[in-house]
Amino acid sequence: MKNTLMLKVDPHNPDPTKIDIAAEFIRKGGLVAFPTETVYGLGADALNPEAILALFEAKKRPLDNPPIIHIADRSEVCRLVEEVPKKAERLMDLFWPGPLTLIFKRSNTVPSVTVAGLDTVAIRMPKHKVALALIRQSCCPIAAPSANLAGKPSPTTAQHVFEDLNGRIDVILDGGSANIGVESTVVDLSVDPPMVLRPGGTSFEALRRVFEDISLHPFVQAEAELTLGNTRSPGMKHKHYAPKAEVILVEGNVPAIIAKVKDLTEFYKLKGVKVGILATDETQTCYTADIVRSLGSRFNMELVARSLFRLLREVDAENVDVIIAEGVPSEGLGLAVTNRLRKASGYHIIRAG
Ligand code: TXA
Ligand code: MG
Repeated sequence: MKNTLMLKVDPHNPDPTKIDIAAEFIRKGGLVAFPTETVYGLGADALNPEAILALFEAKKRPLDNPPIIHIADRSEVCRLVEEVPKKAERLMDLFWPGPLTLIFKRSNTVPSVTVAGLDTVAIRMPKHKVALALIRQSCCPIAAPSANLAGKPSPTTAQHVFEDLNGRIDVILDGGSANIGVESTVVDLSVDPPMVLRPGGTSFEALRRVFEDISLHPFVQAEAELTLGNTRSPGMKHKHYAPKAEVILVEGNVPAIIAKVKDLTEFYKLKGVKVGILATDETQTCYTADIVRSLGSRFNMELVARSLFRLLREVDAENVDVIIAEGVPSEGLGLAVTNRLRKASGYHIIRAG
């Protein structure tokens, strides 16, 4: 068991001496959790195969699901990829640094284990000052999946990382809460037209304004487990965002959702089952259950995205048996929220109205 060091850093003006302590661990093949604008990442030197193996081990992550490589300077892309398509240049101009990950054909510089044996590589330039400082001071690209145990909700605070990974990693840089709260959008540019493999912090609408023909992989809006022979994104087939409790997602129009959530709550109460409800500002007063929490207003998907993973963890920590969650509109960040809620429910979706 490792002695995990927790270091508080100012998210806007990180202390270089603290960053350097963390960077030293990365350079020596260690593991450092750090804040990004989306969620916390667990970083290791992307070009050091042993460090990457330790990263998979610490997260208990299946070896066939590759992490995203984080860079601080656009010139880094060139040595990691075979070619930079024109369309990628455009997206990097518009959305980097920020919550957008691009998939390229990879170069031989990237060790095979870092990309799980694929011929492509996922790259993103985060916007968070702590993440950028860590990458720069480590002097290497940093591979970083979300800093949670595999299958759990992604961490949006250092405390979440601590709960999952204390004793398994070297350092946690605590830079406060992640601002966006859902992971980056993953766009595949090794195909043309480009395809969104995972919805996230960059909205599909914003990408559509740049490339009219960009498409959504069927998995993005899947309402059931898809059996994809040739999954474009390996992460698609693994269990995700799952709390201990059973999650039931109720989708449909708002009055029908309210009626269905009430019915389900009554049903479970009669059975003596402890119920938590993830409602919204507009609906939360309609319910009486063991725990009722609001994700935020149905008219503000930014706020809902920010609180989603935190609330999944918080409600789960109350040891409820069942979490009933309301579906939300799929516009803007709502597409990512819907995708995460569906996965968290293991596609246990009830359609109301
Ligand atoms: O916001 C984020 O993206 C966060 C922060 C830490 O940057 N990172 C994150 O990483 O969410 P992770 O490993 O939890 O998710 C990476 C996703 C997975 O679904 C993985 O399958 C996919 O990106 N991915 C990685 N490499 C890929 C590749 N070469 N082709 C297709 N999908 C890939
Ligand atoms: Mg993850």
